[in-house]
Order: sequence, then C-alpha cells, then structure tokens
Amino acid sequence: MARIPVSVIEEIKERTPIEDVVARYVTLKRAGSNLTANCPFHSERTPSFVVFPATQSFYCFGCGAGGDVVSFLMRIENLEYVDALRQLAERAGVSIPDSGERGDGVETVPRKRLFEMNRDAARYYRDQLFDESRGEATRRYLTERGLSQTVIKRFGLGFAPDDFGMSRHMKELGYTEKELVAGFLMKVSERSGKPYDLFRGRVMFPIIDVSGRVIAFGGRVMGDGEPKYLNSSDTPVFKKSKNLFALNYAKNNCADEMILCEGYMDVISLHGAGVENAVATLGTALTPEQARIMTKYTKRVIICYDSDAPGQRAASRAIDLLSEVGLDVKVLKLKGAKDPDEFIKKYGVDAFRDALAGSSGKFSHTLGTISSKYDENDPDARVKMIREVCEYIASIPGATEREIYINQASAALGVSVESIKNDVLLIINKNRKKRRRELPGEMLRNATGVGDRVNRDKLTHLRAASCEETVLGMLVGYPEYIADVASGRIKLSEDDFSTEFGRRAFSTICGIYGESGAFDIGALSEHMSPDEVSRLVKLSVDRSQLDNGRSIFEANVKALTDEKSRELAKSEDAFDAIRRMRETKNRGNT
Ligand code: UTP
Ligand code: MN
Repeated sequence: MARIPVSVIEEIKERTPIEDVVARYVTLKRAGSNLTANCPFHSERTPSFVVFPATQSFYCFGCGAGGDVVSFLMRIENLEYVDALRQLAERAGVSIPDSGERGDGVETVPRKRLFEMNRDAARYYRDQLFDESRGEATRRYLTERGLSQTVIKRFGLGFAPDDFGMSRHMKELGYTEKELVAGFLMKVSERSGKPYDLFRGRVMFPIIDVSGRVIAFGGRVMGDGEPKYLNSSDTPVFKKSKNLFALNYAKNNCADEMILCEGYMDVISLHGAGVENAVATLGTALTPEQARIMTKYTKRVIICYDSDAPGQRAASRAIDLLSEVGLDVKVLKLKGAKDPDEFIKKYGVDAFRDALAGSSGKFSHTLGTISSKYDENDPDARVKMIREVCEYIASIPGATEREIYINQASAALGVSVESIKNDVLLIINKNRKKRRRELPGEMLRNATGVGDRVNRDKLTHLRAASCEETVLGMLVGYPEYIADVASGRIKLSEDDFSTEFGRRAFSTICGIYGESGAFDIGALSEHMSPDEVSRLVKLSVDRSQLDNGRSIFEANVKALTDEKSRELAKSEDAFDAIRRMRETKNRGNT
C-alpha cells in the first residue's frame, strides 16, 4: 500500500471535522459536548451511536463500531484505508503525493492503473469471444446455456484462450509483468519463479463494482475440470468479501427487494429473463460486510440458494447475517430444479416470479430445516420435533413475533395453538429460572470478558487485563503518552502485557508512532480487525473523561511493570474473582 506521509494525514484530518462527515449520513442530535444519532451500521430505534468532537472519534454502544473519521468513511462507504483518506483529502482540498514505491521495496501499482488494466483485459477477453474462429466453441457453449447476445454483452462476458495471449497483448499495451501479477491476471509459478497467465481456457465473467469499473474476474471451465470456477484473489481494487456480483445493475432495481443467489450463472440467467434485482457472492459464503452493503440498497432480501443440502445450510447462515443487519429476510427454495438458472430454463420466468411471490418467511425455512431432521411418521420423533420448534420460538425476544410464529407452527404442524403456546411459555419460564441461577456466572463473564471475542485471554489475566485496557485506551486517546513511552520517559514494553490482544495492540500503536512520529487511529485498521479497532476506540472514549489522567496512566503502567503488582495480578484467578464478586453481591443484599 502506498504510504501517505503522516503530516498529510494529519492535515486531512485537521481539515475534516468528523461531525461534518458523519452528518452527511445520519441526523446528529446534540447531547452535551457530544452528538448522537441512530447508528448507521446496525438497525435501531433509540440512538446509541455517539460522535465525540473532542477526540474526533465515534463509537456505537449498540454494535461496537467505532473509530475516527477515516474508519467511519471506510465502514460506511466500504473503502480501504488509503481510499478513504484520498476521498477525505479531495474534500478537504489537500493534495496527496503519489508514491509508487512503498517502504519495503515491493512495487505497488496505483489503483487507477489496476482499473485500467482490468478494463483492458476484459476487452481482450471479450474480443477473443467474438473472434470468428477462436471464440466459436465458447459462443456455442454460452448459447447452449441459454444466454442471448444481449446478456453476454451486458455482462461483458469473454473468453480466455488456453495460451499466453492475454499477457502478450497486455505487454503490448505497456503493462509490465509485475503489474499483471499485482492485478492477479498473472501468477508467479512456484516451480519456475516465472509469471504465467492465470486464466486459460475459460469463460470469463468480469466482476464490476457499483461505479461500473472492472475490479476482478471469475473464469469457468467449459465442460468438466477443476476448479470449476477460478476467481481473482483480493487485490488493491478488489475485496471479495465486500463486493457482490451484478450489484452494479441490481442496485437500480432493488428498492423493494433483492434476490441473493449462489452462482454467477444464476444471476446472469435471472437478469437475462428480466429479473434484474439478483446478486451473488463471489465464490465465498455471504459475509457480514456484504449484508451491510445490501442495507444501503434494499429493505428485503430473498435468499434463493441451490436447493441441495449445502445450499440450504448456507441459506440458514445467510438468514442470520441478513437479519442481524436489520433486513427483512425471505427464503425461496425452488422445487424441481437445482438452482435458479436451471429453474428458469425448465419452467420459465413466470413460474419463477410466482415462486418468488410465494417465498416464505425465515420462520418457514427454520420449520422446514427442523422437521427435515425427524421422521414424520414416528410419533416420538414428532414430539421431539415439536419440542425443538417450541424451543426455537421461546428463544425469540419479541412477544408479537413469537405469537405469529406460534400460529404459523400450529398450522404447519397440525397441533393446536394452545398446546404450542403452553409449551413455549413453559420453556421461557424454565429458561428464566436457569438464567437466574446462572446470573453470577453471567456477571462474571460480563465483567471479565469471557466470550470476549476481541480480548480472548482476558479471563486468565483479570487484573492485568483491566490495567492493560486502561493503558491502551489512554494511549489511543492521548497520543502524548505514546510519545512518553517512545522516548523512554515512561518505561513500558510489549513484554509487560499479559494478554495477546494487549501485546499486539501495544506493539501496533507503537509501530504506527515509530514509523511516522505521530499516531492515527485510522492507521490501526491496516493492522487490526474492525472489532479490535472498535474496542480500542471504546476504551479511549471510556477513559477520555478522566480528570487526573496522568496519575491514572502512570499507576496502571506501574501495575503492569512492577514485578510485585504483576505477581498480585496473577494470583487472582477467575475463581478468586467469582468469590470476590459473590461477597460484594451478598454484602449488597444485606
Ligand atoms: P455452482 O457450482 O452452483 O456454480 O457454484 P453455478 O454458478 O451454478 O455454475 P454453473 O451453472 O455450473 O456454471 C456457485 C458459485 O460458487 C462459486 C462461484 O461463484 C459459483 O458461481 N464457485 C463454485 C467457485 O468459486 N469455485 C468453484 O470451483 C465452484
Ligand atoms: Mn449452480
């Protein structure tokens, strides 16, 4: 990644108040010195999203998203770090020096160049497809699969002959092998160390982003062969977890609903038949990022995966991801065909639209999944099956939703509403009692972060972890402390941290500072996951109101570096903590 000098990053950020940028996406309300809004990253009715002008950061207490103005833009516009910076720079009127070389000597190719390269490659593949003799077999293949000329052209399909013509042609256009490797059109052979053309003897499907730029390719073998599809790996212009096939077309036709399929061919067939709101993932399962992207364009997603068992399992996972981001989810399980492509060919588009209208809510899919595990004709199995359905309904928090599902289950299973309702209530009560018994455990988990996916080994280093988090939060919130650590005025090193998260966060923070002589929360995103960045922001927000910051910082550093305190921290394990918390709780009760 091209390095942007820190002085430039600082200038960009200085000229870009975070509240101005956020205000372009949500309506901010003042709350004291901060601003709040409904979170743009998850669906909610009461605002838990806060912008802190003093620290130029944001944090959502509902979903945990957090960061600075750069991370905000990265998340909301689905951009890489450098691209978010570039966009802000443009807005702020700051010019970024264009460096083609990065620190470690590996040549990087500017994104603009990669876009041009992909476009030129797509043209080459298309020309091969329409070449009288060379493309003939492929044209026949596509025609046999029912694709019209119009659709082939609309999707920019092409053909990569089984030779090295692509690289020859691209070199004539002035692209170097290094550039072609960076764009994943060539790959360096492990055996010979020489680059070779990656896509050969394949039908080419360009992947196009919402701005209409070719960002990657999928290539399918004609007939049998492994792998069936070869897809570009991630490059500086392509992240497969953050893009959807055909979203560039579907985005204009999906205000009400979007259809999510598994395959490129499903989507192309659907569009060809006039169903223009279909998208597919890019050779991977649906990701949370893709689900979030969909919320920008539509309200409802109809999952239309392959009707086989793996397809239906994938559908269950997709239901969860899509519901989590607040989308209305429906599922269409096609009968009599393995996927939408085959269905349309066998029964026509009208039959598909009928099926679409009859697509079922997510509860029907759950009902189907549960009942398929049991033998309908065995009364004992039926009892177990109904029990599992009741447990599922009991796990749903909303009473209205539960009531609707109870009625639906009653109709589908042929059991009275009363019986199901009673069973569900019994389970809910039982769960409540169980929860009450387990409460101390749960309090402990909350207090210590068991099930804390970010700081995983918090439980085994309770006290140390709490000091570490204070220190990390203050380093992020007050970069002057990083300067103290860097200059050695305050002695603190990676080895003083007991948790893996603490060590990594500390060394990343120091690394960013060491490289640039300044600290930038946004730069954390280059080295840590979004959840980890959010955690650090939350820590810094929690600790930004401290009056006697310096003494708290020093006390916590001391606790980490001082041998005796370290021993003490170690001596309290989870069991001591439970005991201590029980004691505190009992004292509170008397
Ligand atoms: P399918 O095997 O269902 O392919 O894989 P398909 O789209 O129906 O293709 P046809 O109809 O046989 O031509 C679904 C999707 O999974 C990914 C591709 O994105 C494909 O569209 N996939 C599949 C791969 O990435 N690699 C593979 O080898 C196979
Ligand atoms: Mn398929």
